Amino acid sequence: MTRLYVHPLPVRVWHWVNAFGFVALILTGLQIRYRVFDALPLKAVIDVHNKIGFLLIANYGIWLVYYLFSDRICVYHPELSPRAQYRAMLRQLIYYGYGLFKGRPNPHQVGIYRKFNPLQSMTYQIVMILLVPLELYTGVVLWDLQRFAGTVDLLGGPRVVSSLHVALCGVFVVFLFVHVYLTTLGHTALEHVKAMLTGYEEVEDAAAQAPPAQTPAASLS
Ligand code: HEM
Repeated sequence: MTRLYVHPLPVRVWHWVNAFGFVALILTGLQIRYRVFDALPLKAVIDVHNKIGFLLIANYGIWLVYYLFSDRICVYHPELSPRAQYRAMLRQLIYYGYGLFKGRPNPHQVGIYRKFNPLQSMTYQIVMILLVPLELYTGVVLWDLQRFAGTVDLLGGPRVVSSLHVALCGVFVVFLFVHVYLTTLGHTALEHVKAMLTGYEEVEDAAAQAPPAQTPAASLS
């Protein structure tokens, strides 16, 4: 077994602030939209929701700046051949749905520069480059509809923006359940969570740990 430093500090800080922040945003968002708990004053809940939202925008900046200036950004490089991507995703899906229960080895070997399996890599790209920015952006627009009146009109009005914001929240709730379940599928249930806390993952094969040739050699980790 080899210990690999797969999650650098800025990624870990971003991740846990983001995780707790998202859960808080979902709960306060439910209260704002559906008044689940009668006792809570709406104005205070909106205030907390907005503050956490702005905190997560700043936090997203940590993730973005870190990856933009680090050679670790190659963990987010997309597979340019759709055929290769779908085959690899299918292999990973078959492992999760069948091989795992038969005790077969995971088809993906974790490495510093390829820490995500094909399913994670595609999902995390969509989540981080599209869904999270869109959720934060629609949140900012809803925070001050007058200031962003032009954008609101362009997007089809406050109802459309609000529906988009809530629909994305629904996607995050589903993502959260699937994401947390998949993180329990290591050698032990908490192996990946511990790695996201300490930065280190235990792997069996330490092959291919060198950075890909086209990326700068220096890493910020
Ligand atoms: C309590 C909730 C959460 C837990 C326990 C959790 C756990 C983890 C763990 C263990 C990893 C390591 C890699 C892996 O195994 O997939 C990870 C990575 C990741 N998680 Fe979460 N997560 C949570 C919430 C979230 C939320 C709310 C989001 C986004 C909205 C998110 C987005 C990500 C992303 C993008 C990565 C890859 C990060 C990177 O290395 O760049 N997670 N998560």
